[in-house]
Amino acid sequence: MSAKPVDKLTAAEAEKELERLASEIAEHDRRYHGEDAPIITDAEYDALRRRNEAIEARFPKLIRPDSPTHRVGAKPSEKFAKVIHAKPMLSLDNAFADEDVADFAARVRRFLGLKEDAKLAFTAEPKIDGLSASLRYEDGVFVQGATRGDGTEGEDITANLRAIRDIPLRLSGKAPAVLEVRGEVYMTHKDFAALNKRQEAAGEKIFANPRNSAAGSVRQLDPAITAVRPLHFFAYAWGEAAKLPADTQSGMLEAFKAYGFKVNPLVRRCATTNDLIAFYRDIEARRAALGYDIDGVVYKVDSLELQARLGFVSRSPRWAIAHKFAAEQAETVVEDIDIQVGRTGKLTPVAKLRPVTVGGVVVANATLHNEDEIERKDVRLGDTVVVQRAGDVIPQVVRVVLDKRPRNSRAYKFPEKCPACGSRAVREIDEKTGKEDVDRRCTGGLICPAQAVERLRHFVSRDAFDIEGLGEKNIQAFYDDGLIREPVDIFLLEKKHARTILEREGWGEQSAKKLFDAIDRRREIPLDRFINALGIRHVGETTAKLIARNFHTLDAFAAAMEGEGAMAELQGIGGIGETVAEAIKDFFDEPHNRTVLKHLAKEVRVLEVAAPAASGSPVAGKTVVFTGSLEKMTRHEAKARAESLGAKVASSVSKKTDLVVAGPGAGSKLAEAQKFGVAVIDEDAWLKMIGH
Ligand code: IVH
Repeated sequence: MSAKPVDKLTAAEAEKELERLASEIAEHDRRYHGEDAPIITDAEYDALRRRNEAIEARFPKLIRPDSPTHRVGAKPSEKFAKVIHAKPMLSLDNAFADEDVADFAARVRRFLGLKEDAKLAFTAEPKIDGLSASLRYEDGVFVQGATRGDGTEGEDITANLRAIRDIPLRLSGKAPAVLEVRGEVYMTHKDFAALNKRQEAAGEKIFANPRNSAAGSVRQLDPAITAVRPLHFFAYAWGEAAKLPADTQSGMLEAFKAYGFKVNPLVRRCATTNDLIAFYRDIEARRAALGYDIDGVVYKVDSLELQARLGFVSRSPRWAIAHKFAAEQAETVVEDIDIQVGRTGKLTPVAKLRPVTVGGVVVANATLHNEDEIERKDVRLGDTVVVQRAGDVIPQVVRVVLDKRPRNSRAYKFPEKCPACGSRAVREIDEKTGKEDVDRRCTGGLICPAQAVERLRHFVSRDAFDIEGLGEKNIQAFYDDGLIREPVDIFLLEKKHARTILEREGWGEQSAKKLFDAIDRRREIPLDRFINALGIRHVGETTAKLIARNFHTLDAFAAAMEGEGAMAELQGIGGIGETVAEAIKDFFDEPHNRTVLKHLAKEVRVLEVAAPAASGSPVAGKTVVFTGSLEKMTRHEAKARAESLGAKVASSVSKKTDLVVAGPGAGSKLAEAQKFGVAVIDEDAWLKMIGH
């Protein structure tokens, strides 16, 4: 797709191209901002914008009323309340080469009429790759938070932002009467990987990168979901302010710190353009080790007086520029597509790549997620693809390079049989929605060796039985040799197969003893871990805990599952819905599973899990609603505390509510409480009540 150089375009061609670019860029904006699901890389997007700008610069008469240069991002989505920004949230111009940075500094000097040798300080800041948010404080209290949206109008995400610990609910020290602090909400690589793992286990949407997952989390309509997603915030700018606490950018960042914000620790004040470039090189080298995504650095004129004189051009300030990094991407060839079978039978396609270095790491595999993803990207064997790596995240296939597609290639046909056992693999239809599941699953169940091995791996994994020394390779080898077929076999290894193991290559007295000791240490296990270990579909650590706290003993749980009222009993547990309940019931309806449990019970002792400290706590069994802002702890923390004391935390007030804890800014819920005659107390009274 080599486009004609801009200086060779005729006016007619330019006009056509501007039209094409306007609609293409608008579509990418919509995907990026509206849906958090971009289909091109930032670098490709920037290239489109640059071409658009270059054509406009040559043919200014042809600039369209809907030109992308006039707009930032997409219109806000319909589901959140709208917030008109008191001061627009703008964007930054980009620099790619060192010369662009020199040009920027020269432009600033020219505009201000400064001589080449006159002093001009800048700040240099990492450009965090998250999503920007504006936080409004009135008399030091956080009253409203909004996304950028299209720059003029954003979305009210106050409730979600309150759950972020890096965002103070009240500013420390003396703050201006009105202050809008702006910055970036982001997710660390570690948290991103863990979130995707949870999402995958729960059959939920998988995020492409930390930026999208931060955006998706913050734009959740249910703040409870945001609250359990670990988000962070760096402050770096501001909007409306009754009075500014400093007269430089660097001074403002110091003030933000004093108010209680996190400010990126790598920010530097630079006196010369060379310092800026040196900063860029330094950050670029440290990029992979930061633990969160940055996509460049931002240079800003330090003096606010000069910033004010410089002002803005269309969508960006003249006093700042973003120096972007080259994306960590590379091209390679898909040599094969491997289908992995998970413990619940889910088939996951993995691209086997010709090994390639991406951002300093050799990549040979990339997940393709599922059948629909392969079809959407039309990935075929032999295709050249762009792969991308963000931090320590699983590499992704971004897109196919169509120009390099082999002539005789054919669309990839996803197998309809399980590659491990040959059983049919199907996509289930959700009875209620009539929608097809995104995953294809092996129907082989208990006869599928791949599922069996995955179930065993899960059984011994960290959050389950946590048996040291029984890693993935050993499980596979022991399974292949018939030493371990079902979980109980693990506990019979020493008795039945000690000899066989000793005779195996790589095993000696010592290593065998170590393994048997590790197994023996796990002959007692709390009920919640035990339930998690069973690998029941949709039942992970959290659900296992809920079940354990409800039934306390394995016997009580198993007995309840055999009775008529099993479904009702399960759904009566807060946090367990119909799908999960059905999966649990299905597990117990399968005779083989009951046999597995019976066998296990002979070898391991399942420890009782006590109910949360119910009696003794004045709030046990009470239904509590928190509203308004809490100052001593986040909403998330308050909820967790209340629940650990046996209270039920609800999100809306009803007749059944026992207590409303109201902080500053409480609104409709307070009114509801009064209507229903529900007791209302403030945060301090609440803390006293729970003996904090
Ligand atoms: S300053 C008026 N500083 O980059 C200028 N932006 O491409 C306001 N960003 O919308 C932005 N780190 O979401 C600024 N240290 C930083 C930044 C930063 C990340 C984001 C921000 C902005 C986008 C512009």
